[in-house]
Amino acid sequence: MASSQLFIILAILAIVAPSVLATDYVVGDDKGWTTNFDYQAWARGKMFVVGDNLVFHYPEGVHNVLKVNGTGFQQCAGPASTAPLTSGHDVITLANPGRKWYICGAPNHCAAGGQKLAITVMPSSFAPSPSPLSAKYVASSPSPTPGC
Ligand SMILES: *[C@@H]1O[C@H](CO)[C@@H](O)[C@H](O)[C@H]1NC(C)=O
Repeated sequence: MASSQLFIILAILAIVAPSVLATDYVVGDDKGWTTNFDYQAWARGKMFVVGDNLVFHYPEGVHNVLKVNGTGFQQCAGPASTAPLTSGHDVITLANPGRKWYICGAPNHCAAGGQKLAITVMPSSFAPSPSPLSAKYVASSPSPTPGC
């Protein structure tokens, strides 16, 4: 009996351990990457760590994914030199800590449809614990503005 319990525990660890090391976040969950969805609310309370993946799901050709800076996020404008991701199943590995911004480059999807995501990526050594630092990160997320 004892050994079968040990086996079950090891089997569970084998399944769970890789997802502890790196988490795949499907942006928007079952809604995917689309217009008229509150991505700031979606990101709130999630902890993104270096090595995690963002997965953008959308019908190919309808939307795309453009990584922008903070200015581009506010203005819904991407750098003309950067080609957007367009596969409909775009996986972005969060390679560096810091603030990250993504918008849809289709006309007006960001400006009128609010199709924009801003997240803060923690260093991989970051130990989850309630601290003034994490509170500051939460407080500094821009609140969704109606019609933006
Ligand atoms: C943000 O990106 C735009 C291009 O979309 C660029 O013109 C601008 O200089 C960048 N700003 C910063 C602070 O890097």
